[in-house]
Amino acid sequence: MRSHFCGTVTEDLVGESVTLCGWVHRRRDHGGVIFIDLRDRTGLVQVVYDPDTVEAFDTAEQVRPEYVLRAVGRVRERPPGTLNPEMVTGAVEVLGQSLEVLNPARPPPFQLDEADVGEETRLRYRYVDLRRPEMFARIETRARITRAMREFLDAEGFIDVETPMLTKATPEGARDYLVPSRTHPGHFFALPQSPQIFKQLLMMSGFERYYQIVRCFRDEDLRADRQPEFTQLDVETSFLDLDGITGLMESLMRHVFERVLGVALPDPFPRMTCEEAMARFGTDRPDLRNPLELVEVGDLVADAEFKVFAGPASDPGARVAALKAPGAGGLPRSGIDDYTRFVGTYGAKGLAYIKVNDLAAGRGGLQSPIVKFLSDDALQGIMERTAARDGDLVFFGADASKIVNDALGALRVKLGEDLGLVEDGWRVSWVVDFPMFEWDPRERRHSALHHPFTAPDTEDLAAIESNPAALKSRAYDMVLNGSEIGGGSVRIHRREIQQAVFRVLGIGEDEAREKFGFLLDALEFGCPPHGGIAFGLDRIAMLMTGSSSIRDVIAFPKTQTANDPLTGAPGFAEPRQLRELKIRVLDTPGG
Ligand code: AMO
Ligand code: AMP
Repeated sequence: MRSHFCGTVTEDLVGESVTLCGWVHRRRDHGGVIFIDLRDRTGLVQVVYDPDTVEAFDTAEQVRPEYVLRAVGRVRERPPGTLNPEMVTGAVEVLGQSLEVLNPARPPPFQLDEADVGEETRLRYRYVDLRRPEMFARIETRARITRAMREFLDAEGFIDVETPMLTKATPEGARDYLVPSRTHPGHFFALPQSPQIFKQLLMMSGFERYYQIVRCFRDEDLRADRQPEFTQLDVETSFLDLDGITGLMESLMRHVFERVLGVALPDPFPRMTCEEAMARFGTDRPDLRNPLELVEVGDLVADAEFKVFAGPASDPGARVAALKAPGAGGLPRSGIDDYTRFVGTYGAKGLAYIKVNDLAAGRGGLQSPIVKFLSDDALQGIMERTAARDGDLVFFGADASKIVNDALGALRVKLGEDLGLVEDGWRVSWVVDFPMFEWDPRERRHSALHHPFTAPDTEDLAAIESNPAALKSRAYDMVLNGSEIGGGSVRIHRREIQQAVFRVLGIGEDEAREKFGFLLDALEFGCPPHGGIAFGLDRIAMLMTGSSSIRDVIAFPKTQTANDPLTGAPGFAEPRQLRELKIRVLDTPGG
């Protein structure tokens, strides 16, 4: 139907006849001459109709935005003074000779270049939304990312294997999506939260190197970087230790960045322990483009008469940390109140601060409601440790470590943005040495920080059960610009260790057998040492396209409340379907 794509009509084609297909992006009537910006996935080109070509001109008068057209014409240079340097095709135009309406269109629900279209509307008319060049570019970049991933993994001998979607619950810690079984009334499949167990089974089958670009399902509270169905690049390998796996995965990411963005990521990636990340950034996924850091000051204020500080300073489960906002000393009282309210949403009971007016003047040069409670030594120590200069503002958090980390970690991010301190570019790192278990005070039991198949950093059975809280795991997270883009671990490959870990998690013999019996069996039939990782493809695509939500890199995403305005899913089931499934609905909304 066409000879050229719109976006490829440039100076080289001057004098040639072209046939183009596409959508009417804009139509302008300039006193007897009609200009149509014709759009296809490659871009726009201007097609001009003048009244001499009577039939085509008449058609051109009738077309409206988003009509689908086929236009034939001759490429010519634009008259001087009408060049559009913004457009790739801006030096030329097509003098239209004939015009065919392949399909008219209703007025679109929004203009493609309109800013601020509500997300509900964008998703409801997603097929129109995806016509926007920036949306097309994002989805296309995503495809280039997966192509680069496959390129690397195929070359490294990885085998792409599909795993079941209708399966049993997988322990990634979120709620499952359930699918009722018709043939087994009262029984349910779970959609996989990840292919975790299957990929381990493939290692036991001797596949050695597996990957899959796979949909995962998690019924959890949604955020900008979380969807109920999302895509992982899922990887598993055998006979590689932690350094072997992380090294290979670094090479993968270097390849992807090089191929897609022409960006060279570091070799090797820097590594940081979880403990260090929490101490310096209050989070285990720090954005290293932000230069601000938390500084420990508990030891300096442990003896202070200021109970707000002295209490947490001498409590092993608490901390006192400082966060310097360089040059923010002029912040008015109301600004400090705003930040205090901000940290309050993370549970902080206050936000003590010191304005550094004049360091040389000693305590007299420090302006703060708390200075009077702190000794000269403490003040001097704080100023030294935070490397404060005149004009800086130093904030403090004192509370249970979790609260201080959450609050000052979030404040660090906010101050970095507010003060314009976040650098451009890509900062990637590994975070390692995570605790193996996390104590859940409400459930009064340990839970696995990663998942229960993650290997502890010891094979000593007694050590695992005697002091689980002190155990570290062989897990690793890959962090890019403050986003956790991947996580994985070396796995347990010996049955007795797997059972010990289940015991710590409070999963008894019977429950373990019922839930993971097939895995426990498989561990006894020849299981190689193995480990792997899963990358969040949506998050990687979001970051690499500079998007602010993963919804922008998913062709048909769900809203924040996990529905799809386009199809109307989820919807009600027919009573007949429910009867077949032997499901009785007790409350039907609306009757
Ligand atoms: P994990 O649960 O850390 O590990 O998931 C791996 C990566 O998937 C991404 N991710 C998500 N992306 C969008 N929406 C979500 N709801 C969502 N949840 C997770 C994150 C995360 O780093 N089986 C293990 C991996 C392994 O051990 O190999 C797993 O699923 O980027
Ligand atoms: P107060 O003694 O409660 O008036 O608090 C004095 C200063 O300490 C105020 O600036 C409070 O915002 C701050 N503050 C109170 N509790 C905390 C806390 N847990 N962490 C940090 N600062 C706090």
